[in-house]
Amino acid sequence: MHLSDILFHHGENRKEYYNSVSPPIIQSSNFVFENLADFRKAFGEEMESVIYTRGNNPTVSILRKKIAKLEKAEDCLVFGSGASANAMAILSQVHHGAHVVCVNNAYSWTYNILTQYLPKFGVSHTFVDGTNLEEIEAAIQPNTTLLFLESPTSIVLELQDLKACAAIAKKHGIVTAIDNSYASPIFQRPIEHGIDIVIHSGTKYLNGHSDVIVGVVCSSKEIIKKMFYAEFMTLGAIISPNDAMLVIRGLRTLELRMKRCHESAMEVTSYLENHPKVEKVNYPFSPNSPQFDLAKKQMDGAGGLFSLHLKTDSFEKAELFFHQLERFSLAVSWGGHESLVLPFCAFYNVPGKENTNLPFNLVRFYIGLEDPKWLIEDLKQALEVI
Ligand SMILES: Cc1ncc(COP(=O)(O)O)c(C=O)c1O
Repeated sequence: MHLSDILFHHGENRKEYYNSVSPPIIQSSNFVFENLADFRKAFGEEMESVIYTRGNNPTVSILRKKIAKLEKAEDCLVFGSGASANAMAILSQVHHGAHVVCVNNAYSWTYNILTQYLPKFGVSHTFVDGTNLEEIEAAIQPNTTLLFLESPTSIVLELQDLKACAAIAKKHGIVTAIDNSYASPIFQRPIEHGIDIVIHSGTKYLNGHSDVIVGVVCSSKEIIKKMFYAEFMTLGAIISPNDAMLVIRGLRTLELRMKRCHESAMEVTSYLENHPKVEKVNYPFSPNSPQFDLAKKQMDGAGGLFSLHLKTDSFEKAELFFHQLERFSLAVSWGGHESLVLPFCAFYNVPGKENTNLPFNLVRFYIGLEDPKWLIEDLKQALEVI
């Protein structure tokens, strides 16, 4: 199906709602039945029926259909956050005594569910260097059920070879899952490379306007059906119909936004890579990236997120650089309209917390929808303090 068809029409049966261009927000928790026969029929096929919004809601269903198609998946579930989508995908693939192999530098709350939560239920894990296929395969144990990837990772921007990882997992009979938030389905569709489960923090690009927290899990009908009756219905981490409508609206411009972010980040990173005050830029589509060939092989673009190392040994100068920036907002997250900066010196001297083990001269940037030349002007004047 053509991308334009998915973003602008797929899943939208306008005849059902006065031919309105925008789908209605069915803001109802509950749905009534006219007779016992219909009620029984719905309960017999709960996943396909509209009974109660914790299970299905017509507005949320439109979103599910669009995202599944974008990821070339058979089906999709939408969750109340990307963190819950990651957690549910992992929970759906483990049991007491199981083992998970996960790449280093995965999102912090993914790390948390593996290290702080699942050990309580007898699920163990091994973290591996995702760039090293031998290390990934060597970490697989007889009780391993899941290989969890995040490619690229969102701080140091490391890629895993998706096809090779899927082949290793298939050889050992284990399921693969990936957090695909960085690339969005516009730039990377892991199912095409043999990955089984694709997860997004839809809070980032899918919604794209920094006003909804949402997560998605895409996979085969079989895996999604199992998740629906287990994790989805039991744990209840759903989004509201109103938020679903906002994400549907965000999707209308997904392709445009991704292209803009990619082109702008290419311009900004190529400026920074040639700057004497910048030691190194981490961006998968930079021709200087050690993983550029792999990036081109499995991605169609990279979007707006990158990180760099400032050329300085001085903590004060790293702080000064940040203070000097005027057109980037200090914030976590990314994927919205606005450009952001996350300097890692901010994770030093936090009351009650240990310092991060990431270097203080590491800075993550997200390039949003502004004019890249206007952003470069700001970076140029801020780098002068180094
Ligand atoms: C790579 C990645 N995955 C998952 C998440 C979690 O998503 P959410 O904030 O929607 O729960 C984040 C959030 O920052 C993220 O950066």
